[in-house]
Amino acid sequence: MATKHEWWQRGVIYQIYPRSFQDSNADGVGDLRGVQDRLDYVQWLGVDAIWLSPIYPSPMADFGYDISNYTDIDPVFGSLADFDRLLAESHRRGLKVILDFVPNHTSDQHPWFQESRASCNSPKRDWYIWRDPAPDGGPPNNWLSNFGGGAWEWDQHTQQYYYHAFLKEQPDLNWRNPEVQEAMLNVLRFWLDRGVDGFRVDVIWHIVKDEEFRDNPLNPEFRPTDPPHHQVLATYSTDRPEVHDIIEKMRNVFDAYGERMMVGEIYLPVERLVTYYGAHGSGVHLPFNFQLISIPWNARAIERVIENYEAALPPFGWPNWVLGNHDQPRIASRIGLAQARIAAMMLLTLRGTPTLYMGDEIGMHNVPIPPHRVQDPCEINTPGLGLGRDPQRTPMQWDDRPNAGFTTGAPWLPLSEDYENVSVQMQRDDEHSMLTLYRRLLELRRSQPALNVGSYGHVPTEGDLLAYLRRDGDQQFLIVLNLGGRECVFGGDAPIVHGRIKLSTHLDRRGEVVTDAVRLRSDEGVIIDRST
Ligand code: GLC
Repeated sequence: MATKHEWWQRGVIYQIYPRSFQDSNADGVGDLRGVQDRLDYVQWLGVDAIWLSPIYPSPMADFGYDISNYTDIDPVFGSLADFDRLLAESHRRGLKVILDFVPNHTSDQHPWFQESRASCNSPKRDWYIWRDPAPDGGPPNNWLSNFGGGAWEWDQHTQQYYYHAFLKEQPDLNWRNPEVQEAMLNVLRFWLDRGVDGFRVDVIWHIVKDEEFRDNPLNPEFRPTDPPHHQVLATYSTDRPEVHDIIEKMRNVFDAYGERMMVGEIYLPVERLVTYYGAHGSGVHLPFNFQLISIPWNARAIERVIENYEAALPPFGWPNWVLGNHDQPRIASRIGLAQARIAAMMLLTLRGTPTLYMGDEIGMHNVPIPPHRVQDPCEINTPGLGLGRDPQRTPMQWDDRPNAGFTTGAPWLPLSEDYENVSVQMQRDDEHSMLTLYRRLLELRRSQPALNVGSYGHVPTEGDLLAYLRRDGDQQFLIVLNLGGRECVFGGDAPIVHGRIKLSTHLDRRGEVVTDAVRLRSDEGVIIDRST
């Protein structure tokens, strides 16, 4: 097809959590030189872009999502010179670089907040969200922090509350203030001028709050095992209509540079999610689609999600899929290793840009964290609910050296005990490994337009099977996935099966000719080339 597709439509994004990728100076924390040292691996893996979680100066109350200076690099990660080198080296290899933009809140140590909290008359007072107490002296409304407790912090000195959707060390900016808008858009310009290819925008659906600060409605479905902030529905504290005007302003900045992209972190139901493409494509290029993370892992539920998502997308909306990130339990722990291979095939054959979380390509699982090693403030504030995010943030498992080759110092989080068996080194030459599967899938996706930009076609199935077609011109692939632990046969009367197996999750059967029906072993998925 002649339609031109952008790099972020054709390509695959690989998320690097820099603290845990590769340490180069033995302080136990990963850094930019470490990332640079591992670029050969990233390129060999076959992804197109890296997204780096925040690398800016930060007191690290929320491990970099509390930023005290938006236009520099935290010394733990390196320097601006290191960043420029990493960017140049990535570009030299044809890899795009996406940074994390955290517009909703700063660190309480950011000079803007320091100035804002100094006095009610400070020129920066209105840069944050300050409110008088309620008549009873309590917080202005019932909004709750995502990390436990109330969302309003009392400031003794100026006798007002400030709002923080996350930690009290992460005060929310007031995006209704045009000075805040300009200052933050300049942050984008700073990095885009340096050559950055895009941004992942943190909690973008949070950035504008209700003008009247109305109480959030109580959540009638709340259960005690839910995250505590789900006691109320975030009706007035998130997803306000005015957010789209702000996003459009961000988008205009990107458009002025060309070929840059913005992907927004948004946890909302699909009909709300798709509004973030903007009325006429004036929103984010990609609103992260986390549905595969949140739904039960069964063929019928997934089929419904794919169908509803495809139907809900606006004509200009390019889809995307995600299996994991630094906030979510590892896919291999959630659905088991055998199904994680099915998930990999699904992620890399569905229509839309895939984002792959580092370590998932070798089947890393959640690492149990002993209480004295817990780092995540979310676990510290809401212990025992299983909300802690350290288990999915443990260091990348490279090889069988001490600490898996991640550091020669003391790692900031413990390594998985199985790292000698689950590592890049162990898997890279193993023709049946998860890593080999990911490489084959990435290779196939890259080389076949039907798989990277082709259309999606629903194929009816039953039971544990899921099937779909990807097409581009004469090229056609049928993907059939067995989400169950029993052997299944797909086809029979259906003339659709004809073709040759290109790839099986079991990494055998390549070239096998299938006619009329295809037999799938338990937890097996196949990509069948039906091209004429
Ligand atoms: C996003 C980030 C998460 C962070 C939160 C607050 O959800 O992914 O890691 O804690 O925003 O910034």
